Amino acid sequence: MDKFVIKGGKVLKGTVEVSGAKNSVLALMPAVLLNNGKNIITNTPEVNDIYTMMKLLKQLGVEATFDNHTLTLDSTNIMSQTAPYEHVKKMRASVYVLGPLLAKYGKAKVSMPGGCAWGPRPIDLHLKAMEKLGAVIELDGGYIIAKSRRKNLVGARINFDISSVGATGNALMAAVLAKGESIITNAAAEPEITQLAEYLISMGAKIEGVGSNILEIQGVDELKPADIENIPDRIEAGTLLIAAAMTKGKIKLTKVNSKHLNLVIQKLEDSGAKLRYNNKIMEIDASRIKPKNVDVTTSIYPGFPTDMQAQWTAFMSVVPGSSTITDTIYLDRFKHIPELTRLGADIEILRNSAIVKGVEMLKGATVMSTDLRASASLVLAGLAAKGTTEVLRIYHIDRGYQRIEEKLQALGADIKRVNTKEF
Ligand code: UD1
Repeated sequence: MDKFVIKGGKVLKGTVEVSGAKNSVLALMPAVLLNNGKNIITNTPEVNDIYTMMKLLKQLGVEATFDNHTLTLDSTNIMSQTAPYEHVKKMRASVYVLGPLLAKYGKAKVSMPGGCAWGPRPIDLHLKAMEKLGAVIELDGGYIIAKSRRKNLVGARINFDISSVGATGNALMAAVLAKGESIITNAAAEPEITQLAEYLISMGAKIEGVGSNILEIQGVDELKPADIENIPDRIEAGTLLIAAAMTKGKIKLTKVNSKHLNLVIQKLEDSGAKLRYNNKIMEIDASRIKPKNVDVTTSIYPGFPTDMQAQWTAFMSVVPGSSTITDTIYLDRFKHIPELTRLGADIEILRNSAIVKGVEMLKGATVMSTDLRASASLVLAGLAAKGTTEVLRIYHIDRGYQRIEEKLQALGADIKRVNTKEF
C-alpha cells in the first residue's frame, strides 16, 4: 500500500496540464452498451476508477483497451447483463450500467452499491426512474434484478425529487432507446451529464434541453457507435488552484475549462487570490495576498461542488478568522475533519457545517485518507503544514486523481510516493 510523504512549506510555482474528467468518463463508458461497435473516448485520465469500469464492461463482453489516454470500447459482443458485487463494491458509479443494459437488452442484474465511506448514498431515484420507464425491479440477494415489462422500455415523465447526477445519467441512457417520448424534470445539469447527453446525440439519440434541468427525449430504435473527446476535470483543476492559494503560490493550468469552475473562481477571488483565465488556461497568483475567510455552501451545478468541500475546508483551516463550510448535498461528508485536526486545524462540526477557526500554521503529522476528496484535502493541508506529513491509504486519491504527486512535484512541491506496509 502506498503513502505520500510531504515536506510542507514549498511555494507552488509553474505550469501543469489538467487531466480529463474522471466522473464524465464513468458516465460515457457504460453508454457504449447502447450500441454495437467500436467507440473511442480520448482525454481519459489514468485513474483506478476507470480501470474498475473497464473490468466491469469487459465482464459484460465489451472489448476494451486503454492506451495513451485513449479508451477503445467495442460493444459488438455483449454476453452478459450481470454486474457482479466484486466490481460494484469498489465503485458506486458501476450502477450506471443498469439503464443502458435494460434499454438495450431488456434486462439487467446489478449488485447493490452498498455503503459509502460517508453516510448513506441511496439509489432509490435510479430504480424509480427505471420503473417509470416500464421495468419491473426486484431486490434479491444484494442484487437489483430489473426486467423490461415489454420488449422495449416505454417513454415516461420522470420527475426527480432531488437533482441526482447518477440517476439523471441512468434515466437518460435508458430513455434514449425507450419507445416514445420521455421528459426528465429536475435533471442534473452538471457538465458530466451535459457531455453524456452530447455523446448520446452523436450516437443518434434525440435529446432536447441539454445543459438544462428539463430533458426531453424521443426514443430511437438503435444507436450507432461514436467517438468523443472528454472534458477536463473541474475538480482536479479546483484542487490545484487551492493548492496554489494555500502555499501562496503562482501557477498556470492548461487544458482546463474555466466555464465549469465559475463559483470556485469566485470564492478564490473572494479569498484575495488573483485569477486570470480564458476558456483553456487559468492562472492564479496568491503570492502577495493575505487570504481572507470565505464561507462556502455546496449545491448542485453551477453551485460550489460538494467534491471541493473538503479541499476548501483545508484551505480555510490556515486562514485566520472564522469560516463556515456547509454541505447541502451530503450532510455528513466530514471524514476529513478529524484528520485535519491531527494536523492542528481547529474545526467543529455542527450538523452539516464545518465551523473552521483558521490557525497560523498546521503542523505535520501522520493522517489517514478515508475517501477520494478527503485524501485530496489532506494532501493540500500537508503542502501548507510545517514539517513532514504522511498521508496513508492513498489508494483513495488514486481512484480519481492521475498521479497527483507528479503534478505537484512539477509545481515544486516536496511530495514522494512511498510503498509501505502500514494500513
Ligand atoms: C456524483 C459524483 C460524485 C459527486 C456527486 C454530487 C460521479 C461518478 N460521482 O455522484 O463525485 O459527489 O455526484 O455532485 O459522477 N440521492 C438519493 N437517491 C438516489 C441518488 C442520489 O437520495 O437514488 C441523493 C444523494 O444521497 C445526494 C444527492 O442525491 O444527497 C446527489 O447525489 P448524486 O448526484 O446522485 O451523486 P452521484 O451521482 O452518486
